[in-house]
Amino acid sequence: MRILGIETSCDETSAAVLIDGKKLHSNIIFSQVKEHRPFKGVVPEIASRRHVEEINSIIEKAMKPLTQVDGIAVTHGPGLVGSLLVGKMTAEALAWAWNVPLVGVNHLESHLFSPFLEDPRCSLPFVGLIASGGHTHIVVVDDFGKYRVLGGTRDDSAGESFDKVAALLGIGYPGGPEIDCRSEKGDFNAIKFPRPYLEGTWDFSFSGLKTAVLYYVRKNPNDLKNKQRVNDICASFQASVVEVLVKKTIKAAKQYEIKRICVGGGVSANRSLRKSFEMAGKLNKIKVHFPSLRLSTDNAAMVAFLGTEKIKRGHRASQLEVNPSLEIANW
Ligand code: KG4
Ligand code: ZN
Repeated sequence: MRILGIETSCDETSAAVLIDGKKLHSNIIFSQVKEHRPFKGVVPEIASRRHVEEINSIIEKAMKPLTQVDGIAVTHGPGLVGSLLVGKMTAEALAWAWNVPLVGVNHLESHLFSPFLEDPRCSLPFVGLIASGGHTHIVVVDDFGKYRVLGGTRDDSAGESFDKVAALLGIGYPGGPEIDCRSEKGDFNAIKFPRPYLEGTWDFSFSGLKTAVLYYVRKNPNDLKNKQRVNDICASFQASVVEVLVKKTIKAAKQYEIKRICVGGGVSANRSLRKSFEMAGKLNKIKVHFPSLRLSTDNAAMVAFLGTEKIKRGHRASQLEVNPSLEIANW
C-alpha cells in the first residue's frame, strides 16, 4: 500500500510517499524558515501563501516516478488555519481525482509515532513526549488511536521557550537549534534558573523560566556583549528545560509501568535532551526512542505513517474539517 502524506500545518511544506507503512519512497520538505526569520516568528499570512506556491511541485517531487498511490493522508490540525487549509484542499482534490481513500491526521499524533518510521525496535505501549513549537504533552499510548493524555502545555511550550529566549538574547531564529549549538560551548551550571516541575500534575509551564532569563539579562546587560556568557546563559536555560522534560517523562513511565518512551517534535532534535534521556533510560531500564533529525521537525513521512495505520483500519473521509486547535483523541 502506497500512501501519500501531506503536511502544511505551520511553515514546512512537505509531501512523502510511504510504502506498506515501512519503506520511505520519498520525504520532501520545503522549509520557509528564511522567509520568517526577519520577523523572528512564523507569519501566518506568508506561510499560507508560500504553501500555495510550493505544494504542487513538492508533491510532484515526492511522487516521482509514481503516478498513483493507494491513499492520501493529510494533517488537519492543530496548526495555522490558513496553512492547514492548503493541505486539506490539495489532498481532497487529489483523492477525488485519483479516486483513492483520504484520511485526516492529527499533527501531534504523527509526532508521537515519528520514531516508529525508522526504528524497528519501537513497539506499543509507550509513553510519548511531544515537545514541539506549539505543544508539550505527555501521553500514554496504549495502541494506535488509544491515548491517555496525562498533561500538556499550560503556557509557553518547550519549543516556544527556546525561540523566545533566543529572541531576547538576540541570537537568531529559530531559537532551538541556536541554543542547542551555543549550549555545547557553555557551562550549564553557570546560572541556576528555576526548574518548573508543576509537582502533582503532568502539565508543563515554561513561561516563568523564560521570564527568569529575561530578568537575569535585564540585571546583567553586559553579559550579552560576552559570547562565552551568552553560551553559559543558553546552557543554563537549556539544562532546566531538559531536566524537567526528562524527569517528568521518566516518572510517568515508572508510574504507569511502561518500559518504553518515544520522543517527538522539533525539540526532540536537541542534543542535550537526547543524551539526558539516554542516560536516564539506561539508569531506569526504560528504552527511549527518538526520530532521526530529519523526522524530528515537521515532515510528511510521519503523516503518511499514521495515515497508513488509519486507512488499514478502514478510516475514510470525503471532506475534512480543519481544526487549528485539534486535540489528541481516540479513534
Ligand atoms: O515540531 P516542530 O518542527 O513544529 C511544530 O509542530 O511546532 O517544532 C519546532 C520547534 C521550534 O520551536 C524550534 O525552535 C524547536 O522545535 N527546535 C529545537 C531544536 N530544533 C528545533 N529546540 C531545541 N533544540 C533543537 N535542536
Ligand atoms: Zn510539529
